[in-house]
Amino acid sequence: MTRAWDDLDRLVDAVEARSTHLTSEIHGVDHWRAVGATAASLADVVDMASPDAPGARPDRELLLLFALLHDSQRLDDGRDLEHGPRAAAFLEDLRGTGLIHLDDGRAAVLHEAIRDHTGGTTSEQPTVAVCWDADRLLIHRVGFVPNARFCSTLEARRRADAGDLPDLVGPPTWGAVAGLLAVA
Ligand SMILES: [Fe+2]
Ligand SMILES: [Fe+2]
Repeated sequence: MTRAWDDLDRLVDAVEARSTHLTSEIHGVDHWRAVGATAASLADVVDMASPDAPGARPDRELLLLFALLHDSQRLDDGRDLEHGPRAAAFLEDLRGTGLIHLDDGRAAVLHEAIRDHTGGTTSEQPTVAVCWDADRLLIHRVGFVPNARFCSTLEARRRADAGDLPDLVGPPTWGAVAGLLAVA
């Protein structure tokens, strides 16, 4: 399988240059990296236990790309329900310019994860499930308690019920996120 990017730093720079709410303390780049680190922690557990889909493996490169792109086209910190579809369109732009390499099957999974992450639903597709759960477990950064009913994987539901929530202090660099996801 071809690596989804040639140069992660170059890709991050290109996304940040075209992002519309980059410096937000709630939905800006610190949050993006925290989503990546949280997705890595969930992917490890899903890999071992496969609680929802035996044998399923989340696509770790797609987890990083979701973290990087999902909130990149927000206009503000309100509901802005169209930021998912806008970010999915941005993904297609990045594929068109050659900054992201995905075959159509992988692109469809990532497109769905990004486009529909604002919809409040759950997914049985393991990559989409981990993407959405990582984002939802981080809702405590704005004072809400994550609700297990809105989580897709058993591990995220367990963490939500137990109050076992991601650390918000010092989200790692993109290089470190790639390392946690084993896609560096
Ligand atoms: Fe979002
Ligand atoms: Fe988010």
